[in-house]
Amino acid sequence: MHETLLLFGATGDLAQRYLFPSLLNLLRDRLLPPGFRIYAIARQDYTTATFRQYLAMRLPELEADAPELIDLLNRVEYIVADLADPGQLPERLAALKGRDCVSYLSTPPGLYIPIAQGLKAAGLLDAPSRLVLEKPIGRDLPSARHILDQVAACVSEDRVFRIDHYLGKAPVQNLLALRFGNSLLEAVWHHRWIESVDILVAETAGVDGREGYYANYGALRDMVQNHILQLLCLIAMEPPSALDADSVRNEKLKVLRALRPMQADQVLANSVRGCYQAGVVAGQPVAGFQSPTPGQHDTETFVALTAYIDNWRWAGVPFRLCTGKRMADRCSQVVIHFREVSHWLFEKPRREKATPNRLVFRLQPEENIELNLMSSLAAPEWGALELRPLPLDLSMPINLRRRIAYERLLLDAFHGNPALFVRNDEIEAAWTWIDSVAAAWQQTQAPILPYMAGSWGPTEANAFMPICGTGGYPNSGRKGN
Ligand code: BG6
Repeated sequence: MHETLLLFGATGDLAQRYLFPSLLNLLRDRLLPPGFRIYAIARQDYTTATFRQYLAMRLPELEADAPELIDLLNRVEYIVADLADPGQLPERLAALKGRDCVSYLSTPPGLYIPIAQGLKAAGLLDAPSRLVLEKPIGRDLPSARHILDQVAACVSEDRVFRIDHYLGKAPVQNLLALRFGNSLLEAVWHHRWIESVDILVAETAGVDGREGYYANYGALRDMVQNHILQLLCLIAMEPPSALDADSVRNEKLKVLRALRPMQADQVLANSVRGCYQAGVVAGQPVAGFQSPTPGQHDTETFVALTAYIDNWRWAGVPFRLCTGKRMADRCSQVVIHFREVSHWLFEKPRREKATPNRLVFRLQPEENIELNLMSSLAAPEWGALELRPLPLDLSMPINLRRRIAYERLLLDAFHGNPALFVRNDEIEAAWTWIDSVAAAWQQTQAPILPYMAGSWGPTEANAFMPICGTGGYPNSGRKGN
């Protein structure tokens, strides 16, 4: 296990909100060795002492004398560096030369190349040192390729760990466990039995302080290019022959490459974009999205897309992908809609009213798995032919403590296990599809529809909305079964 972490962008939001709390939890659970050291690197003018004070104030719910907090702070050293200047790093990091390091770039992607070059010049990317990169890698295929190539000139692919924190979430990993640990599902997992698939990631949070970044990326690039396409891969990929990193990543890659490019003449039927306006979320009034560039109105904070995977298993099955900020509820879920039974025998309900089977994986905030069957169990004794929907509900125990996704991913990076990280060719394949969507939008001038914060997005996107935790179909007023 590598015992030296170089955390670039240590004063940033991600480091403060997720990375340091994750390190704290790993220390508390004694998962890091006594010699583990953290070098926090950023351009702000702190000393080690003042940075430790700053960090202590930001770590949640801990007394100042909590032993794990003191342990964490004692392991942190602060180094000031202009991260855009590769020339500075060899001198600033000279004392670390010769150590096996993990360098984590929690910075804007524009800094990846200069930091990687600086680290290489400092000798800190020599084998077996590793480099961890946050998303987004680029803004489109050409810019992603540029970053991938320049980084590849500094460190070999087997030592680059590209994070998609959704892959570190236990319920997301459970998708693999369920798919490949149950012959019951294996038998029906293809177009003959599955009619359509919904993947929804709805957030109540807004863009909140990241307006500049968001105005340049939008929901398509911020959420779909990575998290949602990774979920799609886990649902759609062929069974890998083993669970090692490359076996799984090879299968995910095939799915991404089989995505049918979005065509301009299809994009209006197969996508909806939206942007939130002022509204009310969880009882609180909130402002609408405002780009920092006056007059800019082309940022989507909501996107719904129908994707098709052109391969043997999924021919003709629509995958409805949907994500939005400032929605009515926080809810991430995958819904598998099965086909209707081939011949309907029962008096009640009539065939058109029968609900086809549905398998719902709720990923967050609560985790559960629900299988909707039709049954006569709920009917009176003499009503055996009277079927009703019967949900079988497997809920996770509420008091189960889930780790922050980054805890798992940090630990894997320290141990050198790449299975839950994204390979360079996956990044390229994902951008290829995303670029086809962006180009189709541009060609057709696809509108960005307003929706009220606290709603389920533009009503035009109703068809993309699977049931959420409330049991209702957002927007339509229909009730779930
Ligand atoms: C990040 C996006 O990658 O994921 C954010 O940049 C988004 O915009 C976040 O809010 C969602 O993550 P989670 O774990 O809260 O679902």
